[in-house]
Amino acid sequence: MTDLILNNGATLPELGLGVFQSAPEETAAAVAEALRVGYRHIDTAAAYRNEREVGEGLRRSGVDRNDVFVETKVWVSDYGYDETLHAFEKSTGKLGIDTLDLLTLHQPVPSRFEKTVAAYKALETLLSEGRVRAIGVSNFMPHHLERLLEETEIVPAVNQVELHPYFSQRDVREANAKHGVLTQAWSPIGGITFYPGWGDGKRSVLQDPTIGEIAAAHGKSPAQVMLRWGIQQRRSVIPKSTNPARIAENFDVFDFELSTDDLARIDALDTGVRGGPDPDERRDAFFDVVIDEA
Ligand code: A2P
Repeated sequence: MTDLILNNGATLPELGLGVFQSAPEETAAAVAEALRVGYRHIDTAAAYRNEREVGEGLRRSGVDRNDVFVETKVWVSDYGYDETLHAFEKSTGKLGIDTLDLLTLHQPVPSRFEKTVAAYKALETLLSEGRVRAIGVSNFMPHHLERLLEETEIVPAVNQVELHPYFSQRDVREANAKHGVLTQAWSPIGGITFYPGWGDGKRSVLQDPTIGEIAAAHGKSPAQVMLRWGIQQRRSVIPKSTNPARIAENFDVFDFELSTDDLARIDALDTGVRGGPDPDERRDAFFDVVIDEA
């Protein structure tokens, strides 16, 4: 595994564990298991309501906190300058750590962009104070990114977006690259296309015949092929699993290489249809979803 270098010189291990939709009671064990098999990067969010358990897994693993890249996100109900500074305290308190390696805004709120900007300015303050090593955004489309860049000082280090073979976000990747923002893929094996309540449940990338053929040719699994596709395109990937065998499988991707032809065949699978929510379709009611202190 290699480190990706962010635009401020900080480094980020290319493969990390995602914990979106990891039940709190399973999260600590998943994090400890991932760290045991070699992961050194965990991505969570206040809105996942499992930061406390991520912290517990980190401590349980015995791995030095300084050897792990810990990333979390500010939820929209905490946007605004003072609110976001407070959200940092809440998240680090739950995680049981003093500093974060990466803190991002969970998503743009187009209808109240001024609050999104104020929240980002709080991230800039936290960065200048050394409380976070890098700051970024999540789920920003190119026009959100352009607007943020116009109204703030520090270019985000990372933009974390839904990205898997069925929704590969070329426009977002190009906008990120143009501004030196690293693209980070959430749902890199397409879990969002079959999570209950999301996607249509009918088009799991894991069952895609092209991915299956490429996987068979390399003696690897479909999930491993998709992770390799991301890594070879210099993306950060954060597959979610709470299953020990799959946590290990997803980390076992450093002993094979996809060919240019393999990569092109996977690129061609893009449907342009996202599994998750459209960042531009946010309603003000989203501000009412408050992340409690518990
Ligand atoms: P589980 O936690 O039971 O392993 P994504 O990160 O792309 O959203 O994918 C996460 C989903 O894919 C979860 O439902 C997870 O379930 C499942 N998953 C994770 N790793 C694998 C794998 N290697 N093979 C098949 N399914 C996987």
